[in-house]
Amino acid sequence: MSFESRLSYDSEEPSGCGSCPDRIVCRCLKITEDAVIEAIVASGVSNVRELRRCTGAGQGCTACLRRLQLLIQEHAELLAKAS
Ligand code: FES
Repeated sequence: MSFESRLSYDSEEPSGCGSCPDRIVCRCLKITEDAVIEAIVASGVSNVRELRRCTGAGQGCTACLRRLQLLIQEHAELLAKAS
């Protein structure tokens, strides 16, 4: 399965819980939601490829790619509204 098709394959949605920073979003690499959000907000990561390079998330089975993409979209929208 290609990287691009994997992005649309996993329909798991990020939850709306904002108080669970230690939640694991990438089980293979044990990357937390907090680490992903930090990369998006502090490092300006704007796509899944950059996020993979920056955090390592998504470098294993790739089941989390769709969820990572949704987190990027969600936080990019929040950043845009804040600026
Ligand atoms: S869960 Fe993220 S690479 Fe496997």
